[in-house]
Amino acid sequence: MRQRLAAANWKMNGLSRNLWDITNLAEWQKNSLVEILFCPPATLIHPIAKALTGLTGTSVQIGGQDCHTHASGPHTGDISAEMLRDCGATYVILGHSERRHGHNEQNILIRAKAETALRFNLTPIICIGESGEDRQHSRTLDIVTEQLEQSVPDGAADKGVVIAYEPVWAIGTGKTPSIDQINDVHMHIRKKLDTRFGSETGQRIRLLYGGSVKPSNAEPIFQCPYVDGALVGGASLDPRKFSAIIDALGST
Ligand code: 13P
Repeated sequence: MRQRLAAANWKMNGLSRNLWDITNLAEWQKNSLVEILFCPPATLIHPIAKALTGLTGTSVQIGGQDCHTHASGPHTGDISAEMLRDCGATYVILGHSERRHGHNEQNILIRAKAETALRFNLTPIICIGESGEDRQHSRTLDIVTEQLEQSVPDGAADKGVVIAYEPVWAIGTGKTPSIDQINDVHMHIRKKLDTRFGSETGQRIRLLYGGSVKPSNAEPIFQCPYVDGALVGGASLDPRKFSAIIDALGST
C-alpha cells in the first residue's frame, strides 16, 4: 500500500507570520494517517523545521520548490539539494509548470535535477502535465508519456520518487479535468511506470493530482483508484481549507 500524500506548494507566498498556519495545522492533523508535506518558499524552510521540532507527535514534512543540478558552485540566486536537506527539507518539487514555462526548463534538465536531489537524499516530486492546447488537440497522453520518459531518472522507483500530474490549464484557474479524464491519465501513467520499472517496483511511485484542488472537489478526485494524493497550490495557503483536503484524503 502506498501512503497517501497531501503536499502544499506555497509557490512565492508566505512570510514568517505564516509559520503559525503550519504549526496549527500540524497540531490539528497530529493523528492523520496521511503524509503531510509543506513546500514553502526557501526562506521559510529552516524556521518551519525548527518550529516543527518543538511539536510532539507531528510527522509533517518540509520540501523545497526547486534545486540546482550542481551540488554547489557559482550559481547566483540558486539553491542546491544539499542546502535544502541541510535546513530540514526531505522533498523537493521539480519541473513544476511554472518553472517549465517561466524558466524554460526542459525534461533533460529536470531529470538532472532529480538525480542530484536523490544523491542528497531528497525525494523529488516530478511534475508533468499538458497545456490547454495539447488537451484540445488530443495530445495529452503523448505529452505526459514524453515528460515521464525524459524527466524521471532510472532508479527513481527504488528511491520513492513521486509524480504529480498537473494539467497546466487547471493550475490556479478553478478548472479541473473531469473525473474520467483524471482517471485516464493516472491509469496511463501507472501503466507506463509498471512497464519501465517492473510492476512491483513501479508500484512504489506515488501519483498525485494537482490543479485547482479544493475542499469541494477533493473527495471525488481522491476516489480515483490511481490517485495517491494531491499537490495543492492556492487552497494550501488557507490552513482550514488544506486541513479539509487532508481529511478528505484520509477518509476516501
Ligand atoms: P492550484 O491548486 O492553485 O491550482 O495550484 C496547483 C499547483 O500548481 C500545485 O503545484
